[in-house]
Amino acid sequence: MPAAQVCPLPDAISFEQGAAMMLKGMTVVYLFTRTTPIPKGATVLFHAAAGGVGLLACQWAKSEGIRLIGTAGSDEKCRLALDHGADACINYRDPDWVAKVRDLTGGRGVDVVMDAVGKDTFEGSLDCLRPLGMMISFGNASGPVPPVNLATLAGKGSLQITRPTLFTHISDPATCQQMARDLFDKVVSGAVKITIEQRYTLDEVADAHRALEARQTTGQTVLLV
Ligand SMILES: NC(=O)c1ccc[n+]([C@@H]2O[C@H](COP(=O)([O-])OP(=O)(O)OC[C@H]3O[C@@H](n4cnc5c(N)ncnc54)[C@H](OP(=O)(O)O)[C@@H]3O)[C@@H](O)[C@H]2O)c1
Repeated sequence: MPAAQVCPLPDAISFEQGAAMMLKGMTVVYLFTRTTPIPKGATVLFHAAAGGVGLLACQWAKSEGIRLIGTAGSDEKCRLALDHGADACINYRDPDWVAKVRDLTGGRGVDVVMDAVGKDTFEGSLDCLRPLGMMISFGNASGPVPPVNLATLAGKGSLQITRPTLFTHISDPATCQQMARDLFDKVVSGAVKITIEQRYTLDEVADAHRALEARQTTGQTVLLV
């Protein structure tokens, strides 16, 4: 590891939790605090809300007074997102999910979309935004987002769009350490709880990948030696 990216773990956080939370938790830190202003009371649409990043995002939003509307691929996953602090959760296997999100905002649209599902949700996500809203496209679990015609953003209400990665943020050592402190504070205070939903041994790594691909996992997964 480059020394500048090593973050000393507080005693209150176990190494297993540390292994589960750093990539996804630091992602949540930059999504909510370093990408676009998200004041208390703002509404965020977060796709795959029962996933690893998702369950941390639900808790982070709750602790900041941000309204989070989640989506997930089953009713059971939706219940899990709600249990972690999402204000509402829609099963996006329902083809009407865009209309449902808009209904939940009284037709206005959400302030920000956080979308790591990519191909399957990109177009619908733009339709969920209010005028001047911000699309944060940060992953492509369902496949790459097709090329975007910038004029589409004008037609849908002068939308903004960004495609960030964690590695840009943590390449500055001081920023990396500050982000880690912000994350640790949330976890040590109990506002964000790190639970581990799946444990695999290193020998079972192929099973872990198959489960991820089949959308069978929720929350955090760790490999143990
Ligand atoms: N840019 C960055 O800085 C950054 C940082 C961290 C992670 N990421 C990205 O964020 C995404 C989420 O990470 P994570 O750790 O939360 O992963 P995860 O727990 O595996 O969540 C991914 C979820 O995406 C949903 N999904 C929808 N369509 C899918 C498909 N065709 N195949 C597989 N999954 C599909 C599934 O949830 P449902 O069944 O509920 O749909 C799945 O559980 C990943 O794509 C990852 O690469 C980006």
